[in-house]
Amino acid sequence: MRATARVTEKREGDGIGAYSNAMWGGRFAAGPGAIMREINASIPFDKALWREDIAGSRAHAAMLAAQGIISGEDAAAIDAGLALIAQEYELEGVPEDWDLEDIHMTTESRLGELIGAAAGRLHTARSRNDQVATDFRLWVRAACERAEAGLAALQRALVTRAGEHAADIMPGFTHLQTAQPVTLGHHLLAYYEMLRRDRSRFAAARARMAECPLGSAALAGTGFPIDREATAKALGFARPTANSLDSVSDRDFALDYLSAAAQCALHLSRLAEELILWASQPFGFVRLPDALSTGSSIMPQKKNPDAAELVRGHSGRIAGALVSLMVTMKGLPLAYSKDMQDDKPPVFEAAGLLELSLAAMAGMIADSSFDTARMRAAAEAGFATATDLADWLVREAGVPFREAHHIAGAAVKLAEERGTALDALPLADLRAIDARIDERVFAALSVENSVAARASYGGTAPTRVREQVEAARQELGMDD
Ligand code: ARG
Repeated sequence: MRATARVTEKREGDGIGAYSNAMWGGRFAAGPGAIMREINASIPFDKALWREDIAGSRAHAAMLAAQGIISGEDAAAIDAGLALIAQEYELEGVPEDWDLEDIHMTTESRLGELIGAAAGRLHTARSRNDQVATDFRLWVRAACERAEAGLAALQRALVTRAGEHAADIMPGFTHLQTAQPVTLGHHLLAYYEMLRRDRSRFAAARARMAECPLGSAALAGTGFPIDREATAKALGFARPTANSLDSVSDRDFALDYLSAAAQCALHLSRLAEELILWASQPFGFVRLPDALSTGSSIMPQKKNPDAAELVRGHSGRIAGALVSLMVTMKGLPLAYSKDMQDDKPPVFEAAGLLELSLAAMAGMIADSSFDTARMRAAAEAGFATATDLADWLVREAGVPFREAHHIAGAAVKLAEERGTALDALPLADLRAIDARIDERVFAALSVENSVAARASYGGTAPTRVREQVEAARQELGMDD
């Protein structure tokens, strides 16, 4: 029976150190030992690193043997054991035993069960600090590659649709007010450009993380004659890291990934928002694919753009992951601190959300149908060619642009009062505003002429858009 008056009380089955504290332990079901075990365990999430952990260990063991630090026989047993563990994990998943804390100890403990004493030689000249830094880099490097592939797929969808709609006219907006006519192809290619920058950010992050921390050991390096070039090469890194203290404390690679992911997610959220807006009834510019929409449980007419809304929403969580890791790392002294164990959940979460968002957007762009007639009608409705009237006055009548802007403004006012389009105003009325206007102006006021005229490099003219589509197709290897 338990004595309640003692300051600490032994709990059954909690193992060493499992005492409930009578001063503060009232609210805890378990004693400090169990709390420590729970707060310490990273295996529930870092088991996702098992492939990288095994690859790192195999490279390390091979190097130890090549350097004569362990025997070839022990290295062979270690390697075979690790290969078997990989098979077990693949088939049965990674077991979650909190007492083994993390993926590193879980695997080493299983290795001991499988091959006996030789397992104890694997951790020579290594620490979990350089081990986890290496594993996590390998994981993040692969995540960069997946993001780049997902971005390329979405870019291909955008470029394909941009090619189909190179000459289809829609209103271009600033302040979400009709500004000037643009082509739908041009609009879609704007996102192609954003995603190009995203891809280069992931590629740059990947290049920067191409240095291997393995062999930095706990923080100071090791006294064993290891070959860090060999392990770096075996794991696909360009070279070993140059400072052991930095190696075990650096999480810049994860921050680089998250910051590229956050910017990419931000772009996806803007594209998602436009699709949501365009799919709304007042706009009616696009019909989103059924496969990426949902119905309402109460309103039979509804088709909701849930996938796009979730992409927009996920961008908040991805940006949150970046902030989370930045705040975790802020102010940490050299070298390793356990705070850094918290580096993984935000990265894992962001990667999952980003990859799903990229796939959802690729599907949405590929399979949406655009209502080009409605887009065109909207472009004609908002006096979108008022700038063309001003430009015409500058070009054909030598009017200074500021004055031409005024004249065009007066014409818009008149058209608005009459409830007609700009090019439906009678010539006489236009000439009453400014006598320098003649019948040739009407050609400039059509939306076709407006977009065709904007043929400056990077402009919205169909000719320019087709060139950009071609350049993009080449960049993406779509014509091979
Ligand atoms: N699970 C730990 C992490 O993810 C591994 C490193 C542990 N190192 C240590 N010195 N306790 O950070």
